[in-house]
Amino acid sequence: MTSTTPIIIDCDPGVDDSYAIAMAHAHPGFDIVAITAVEGNVPARLTRHNALCLADTLGIDCRVAFGAEKPLRKAYDRDASSIHGASGVGDVVFDPPSIEPDPKPAWDVIYEEAIKAEGRLILFATGPLTNIALTLQHHPDLPKYINRFCIMGGGTFGNITKFAEFNVFIDPTAAREVFAQLPVEMIGLNITHAAALTEADFQEMLAIGGDSRPSKMLHELATFSERQSHLPGSDNSVIHDAVAVASVINPDLIEYDERYVYVEDGDNAENSGQTVIEPEDDPREPKCKVGMKVDRDAFAAMLKGVFHHYAE
Ligand code: BDR
Ligand code: CA
Repeated sequence: MTSTTPIIIDCDPGVDDSYAIAMAHAHPGFDIVAITAVEGNVPARLTRHNALCLADTLGIDCRVAFGAEKPLRKAYDRDASSIHGASGVGDVVFDPPSIEPDPKPAWDVIYEEAIKAEGRLILFATGPLTNIALTLQHHPDLPKYINRFCIMGGGTFGNITKFAEFNVFIDPTAAREVFAQLPVEMIGLNITHAAALTEADFQEMLAIGGDSRPSKMLHELATFSERQSHLPGSDNSVIHDAVAVASVINPDLIEYDERYVYVEDGDNAENSGQTVIEPEDDPREPKCKVGMKVDRDAFAAMLKGVFHHYAE
C-alpha cells in the first residue's frame, strides 16, 4: 500500500474546478485516481472535454470518466457560462487531449476506486451532486468505503437565490439524497467568499510565471478570474472549489460546526436548493461538518504555492 491518499474529484470544470484539480495534483500526499465529470457550469459535453484536457495538461495519470448529462429530476436549464466563459474554462485554449476517457460511467469508476482504496478514499465533489447520488443509487454500500467526502456547495446563504448555492441549486434532488446518506464536509459560500483573493494576491500569482503547460494554464486562469470572479460589490475574487481541496490538505484551514443538514428540493419551495442547517441538538445522522470559519491568508498562500509548484 502506498503512503499517498487516493482521491477522486467529481467536478464540472469550471475555472475554479481547474484550480482545485491543479492544487490536488500538486499536493505530494494525494494520488488522484479518477476525475469524473458532471453537468454543471457548462453542459456535460464541455465539462467532459475539460476534464480530459485538465488531466492531460497537468500530466495526471488517472481514470477520467463521464457521468450525468442532466440533473436527476429537474431540467438542466441554466449554466454558469456567464461566469466561466462559453467553454467553461475562461480563456484557456487546450491542446486536443491525448488521453481517452474511461469506458465505464462515473458511478462505476467511483465505486471501483473506493473498493480498491480499502477505506482510504477521499472523495471531493465540486459540481452538482448528480454523479454522487447516482453512485449511491447503483452502489448503496458506497458509504462504508469512503474515508472522507468533501464538497464545495451549499453554505449559509445562496448565490443563485437568497437560499441556494449553484451546485445544489442545479440538482437539489441529488444533493438531498447525498446529504441523507454520506457525512458531508461542506465548504459552502460562507467559507469560499471569506477566502476571496485580493488584487495583490493575483499580482503575486501572475508574477510567478513558468513555461510549463500547467503554468501557462494557471496564468490564463488567474488572468480570467482576476477580472471575472469578483464578489458582488468587491474587488476580491473567489476561487470556490480550490478551498474544498485546501480544507483537506491543511487541517487548520477551516473551523467546523457538526450539524444535521438536509437539502430542500421542493420544486415550488422558495428555498429549493437550500442546505438547511439544523440546531446543534438535532440527533439525526449522518452529521455534516459545516465549514464556518476560514484562514483566508493561509488559503491565499496555498494557492500561490500551487503556482510555484508548476513553475519549478
Ligand atoms: C460553485 O458553482 C460553480 O459555478 C463553481 O464552479 C463552484 O463549484 C460556486 O457556487
Ligand atoms: Ca464547480
